[in-house]
Amino acid sequence: MHWWIVAIALLLVVAAVFFLQRLYLRPWQELEHLLTRIGRGEQPPTFLLSGRPRARRVGLALEQLLARQRALDRQVSKDAAEMRAVFAALTDGLLVVDSTQHILICNPAFEKLYGQSPIAPGTPLLDIIRDSDVIEPIRATLDQAKARVAEVSTPDRKKQLQVTVVPITGQDGGASGVVALFHDISRLKQADEIRRDFVANVSHELRTPLSIFHGNLETLLEAADLDEKETRHIYEVMKRHSDRLNLLVNDLLSLARLESKEANLQLAEIRLPDFLEEVTRDWKKRLAGKNLRLELEVPEDFPMVHADERRLEEVVHNLLDNAVKYSHHNGRILIHARAPDQEIVLSVSDEGVGIAAGDLPRIFERFYRADRARSRELGGTGLGLSIVKHIAQLHGGRVEAESTLGQGTTIRVILPNLPAK
Ligand SMILES: Nc1ncnc2c1ncn2[C@@H]1O[C@H](COP(=O)(O)OP(=O)(O)O)[C@@H](O)[C@H]1O
Ligand SMILES: [Mg+2]
Repeated sequence: MHWWIVAIALLLVVAAVFFLQRLYLRPWQELEHLLTRIGRGEQPPTFLLSGRPRARRVGLALEQLLARQRALDRQVSKDAAEMRAVFAALTDGLLVVDSTQHILICNPAFEKLYGQSPIAPGTPLLDIIRDSDVIEPIRATLDQAKARVAEVSTPDRKKQLQVTVVPITGQDGGASGVVALFHDISRLKQADEIRRDFVANVSHELRTPLSIFHGNLETLLEAADLDEKETRHIYEVMKRHSDRLNLLVNDLLSLARLESKEANLQLAEIRLPDFLEEVTRDWKKRLAGKNLRLELEVPEDFPMVHADERRLEEVVHNLLDNAVKYSHHNGRILIHARAPDQEIVLSVSDEGVGIAAGDLPRIFERFYRADRARSRELGGTGLGLSIVKHIAQLHGGRVEAESTLGQGTTIRVILPNLPAK
């Protein structure tokens, strides 16, 4: 055989191998390469496969598939971001737990309530919450797939929470997890407590005069041989207590009106020096009873005060009433007014018994008295200063107290004084 026939045959074989490799093997290698890159999360620069049209179609289909998957990924992460935004905006604590009591999801409000941030998904619930009052309803809901509600407090005991636990029901009807919502009910609880205290206080205040009426009426009815002096004494006691009752009811009504939603102010322009002259005129007799000197310190050119005149009168009456009651004989009471930037500061000072530092922060509370016995004896209801505070607040203002035990007291009412619109 001639060597060139061998050469041509060899060449043909090589060409055939080359041709077959390009047509059948190369596309597979390219496909494998593409898939590896996709698997690594990279974006291949091209999906064009060499070789026959079918291989090209596979490449194209792969490109479309990848584009769709990318779009889906984007949608999923957008949904997740929206969900996170909703969770973050929730003021209630949200917790999702799986059936093995591991945390799947929780929001920042929950993290704040339980004092840990961030809490990673997968954290065992018991690492975060130890309180069995919380764990128990979650466990029970997982067990019985029934929603339940519990009232618990935060670990620092500062907040009261209502926890609502709802099962996530799986296909078998059992719970595959739970969603728990932690709602802060501290303010509700507090309001409830204040209301209960209030009712208890009012009942207590009513009880004394009523039992005195009852006892005295019984004496009047049953004792036949009372002389005129004794009868008169009984009437006097009853009169004193009916006066107290009257004061109490008036103060309660006043408070109720101030606290009602319809409480509104009849604003007027008040010339303070004239107003105070007028109001204090009625006090001459009571001041004289303890030989007290009342001084008014209000500049004649005081700006007009924009306030409800009757309510302002109530404020001055209540403050003067205290100043007189808690003053020693021959003392001095000062009513002072000044108008620093856009505010009116009206104060009543006395040189009386004063208030202990421990009581001072509480004197504006309803029924709070620093000295119960003395206040009662002087006919106080314990409501005067809370009425003053309410009136100030209704005007958008506030109250302040300053006192030294045994030396005297100053109560200040501060009202905003914006020009009338
Ligand atoms: N000028 C004052 N001097 C001393 N203590 C005062 C004075 N004003 C108020 N207090 C204290 O604050 C408490 C609350 O005042 P208030 O609400 O007016 O009730 P009350 O009916 O007892 O006067 C009083 O019981 C008293 O102990
Ligand atoms: Mg009073």
